[in-house]
Amino acid sequence: MKTTSPIVVQTADGSHTLYAEQYEAHYHSLNGAIQESQHIYIKNGYEYLPINGAVSILEVGLGTCLNAALTAIKTIERKQKTSYIGVELHPLEDNILAKLNYYSVLSKKESEAWGKIVDAKWGVENPINEFFYLTKLHADICTLNLLGTYDLIYFDAFAPEDQPEVWSEEIFEKIYKSTNKDGILVTYCSKGIVKQALRNVGYKVERLAGPPGKRHILRAIKL
Ligand SMILES: C[S@@+](CC[C@H](N)C(=O)[O-])C[C@H]1O[C@@H](n2cnc3c(N)ncnc32)[C@H](O)[C@@H]1O
Repeated sequence: MKTTSPIVVQTADGSHTLYAEQYEAHYHSLNGAIQESQHIYIKNGYEYLPINGAVSILEVGLGTCLNAALTAIKTIERKQKTSYIGVELHPLEDNILAKLNYYSVLSKKESEAWGKIVDAKWGVENPINEFFYLTKLHADICTLNLLGTYDLIYFDAFAPEDQPEVWSEEIFEKIYKSTNKDGILVTYCSKGIVKQALRNVGYKVERLAGPPGKRHILRAIKL
């Protein structure tokens, strides 16, 4: 497998994404990276959680830290203490992150949070603002021993056809066991095999409308 640096690509909403040659896959939808992230992970994920009490989030595939930055700003709006574990197998080099246009296309607050997040140390908890506590974990979700429990999982690995091992029942079962009651998993992928694997491990799965250019996304709930 080739391991070349990801290439910066512009998406339809003006925000950048990356193309990973070794997976032959983009990090976000070409219809709009920010738009996709807002719709799937913030609107149908974070904003679906009740506002009372602290919450914990697991992200599978931290990548450019875009989902993390958008979440960090929502924690302030909701005044909700949020701990966020971002798991990433291939942390991006600083010189790649520096090429992304997030400082100019995100709001001032979001871009400041993004800057803090990309500069945050790996393997320790970093307070990004009064409410958002981030741990960036350089690890493989396939072998990682999940120690905590989570109210919300952003499942944002590359697609099942590019890395089927990550979308296996074995991985979903491990995540299900670490999901709190009424906790949810959201993902951009609505393929039948993914839906079935999530159901087989115990989640109740619903198909929701996707962002522009994508018909459906999935939200799975642990009842
Ligand atoms: C579709 S991109 C997601 C990008 C990210 N959420 C963002 O907003 O930029 C998939 C990410 O999953 C990471 N990844 C792939 N396999 C992984 C694994 N086994 N464990 C953890 N992360 C993985 C990739 O390196 C990449 O950063």
